[in-house]
Amino acid sequence: MGYKVAVVGATGNVGREMLAILAERTFPADEVVALASRRSLGTEVSFGDKILKIKALEHCDFSDVDICLMSAGSPVAKEWAPKIAAAGAVVIDNSSYWRYDADVPLIVPEVNAGALADFRKRGIIANPNCSTAQLVVALKPLHDKARIKRVVVSTYQSVSGAGKEAMDELFTQTKAVFQIDEIAANKFPKRIAFNLIPQIDVFMEDGYTREEWKMVVETKKILDPKIRLTATCVRVPVFIGHSEAVNIEFEQPITADEARELLRNAPGCLVIDSREPGGYVTPYEAVGEDATYISRIREDATVENGLSMWIVSDNLRKGAALNAIQIAECLVNRKLITAKRKAA
Ligand SMILES: NC(=O)c1ccc[n+]([C@@H]2O[C@H](COP(=O)([O-])OP(=O)(O)OC[C@H]3O[C@@H](n4cnc5c(N)ncnc54)[C@H](OP(=O)(O)O)[C@@H]3O)[C@@H](O)[C@H]2O)c1
Repeated sequence: MGYKVAVVGATGNVGREMLAILAERTFPADEVVALASRRSLGTEVSFGDKILKIKALEHCDFSDVDICLMSAGSPVAKEWAPKIAAAGAVVIDNSSYWRYDADVPLIVPEVNAGALADFRKRGIIANPNCSTAQLVVALKPLHDKARIKRVVVSTYQSVSGAGKEAMDELFTQTKAVFQIDEIAANKFPKRIAFNLIPQIDVFMEDGYTREEWKMVVETKKILDPKIRLTATCVRVPVFIGHSEAVNIEFEQPITADEARELLRNAPGCLVIDSREPGGYVTPYEAVGEDATYISRIREDATVENGLSMWIVSDNLRKGAALNAIQIAECLVNRKLITAKRKAA
């Protein structure tokens, strides 16, 4: 007997990727239910070589669901995660709503799978922000070796990180540029086609955006509260794949060669780093891939024990759907959950 898995937000960017990854990795599911809002009732989505019909979230009976993968935004997570958890399903949520709750583990399996054991307090596990997930995968082995003091990160985040409507907006605006039509910006605060926007999420009182704040708080919660981090998050006209230019200051010495070797052997990391034209990874090449790619590793002589690097990953996979499914796999492999049907 396998597990019954519900995917909430199954018509969205992340939800569709979740269904694809569940099938690809042959997750031990006996049954997968695809859920979204009432607007999508009856819409069909692919699950491996099967087609699933979307059901409305509010019509689902969760009493025999074991795992609920949620990617429907914060308002839905706020209202539904506790109800679904109360029905006995473990909720793995992609929104930011539960991430900062002290009783909800925030997990990147390569980094802090040990913290999963705490999930029973609320029955909810949070998935980090897409930019944080790929960052901490690369920072972890370096932190273990030389203790990170401070990180300065600039992100180049694709439009898919803002949902399917945001991808449509880049497409429509790009077409309008070529057709010399009027350009409408609805999803983003300014035109995104052939442009960059140095604002992701809302502004906070101190002048940082909430996306930047998330990277600070989430890195501390997942990796180490002592790490100081400052971020500038920028939206770029790329459909899928987030990139990050990262500068790291360590307590102890570490060379670029040592870092390259550590990252080559680290879970989830793939080093592509040759000092010649094209000897690095771009977001386009990371699409559909599971790895966090690290390129341009070099020593930063402007600080004591400094390194700079370029980190790229598919934000819909490691930044969202893949990470959530890796969490579910950890629950199963560590025997932290039992299928309800099997237990009955
Ligand atoms: N994209 C990323 O890189 C990324 C990374 C990390 C986390 N996340 C988070 O994952 C979540 C989803 O992101 P996304 O990019 O997949 O967004 P999206 O493409 O806009 O999809 C949103 C999904 O949520 C569903 N939904 C909305 N309101 C609902 C309701 N009242 N009841 C049930 N379902 C509802 C939508 O269903 P309908 O089609 O029926 O409206 C759709 O399936 C967000 O919280 C986002 O912050 C995204």
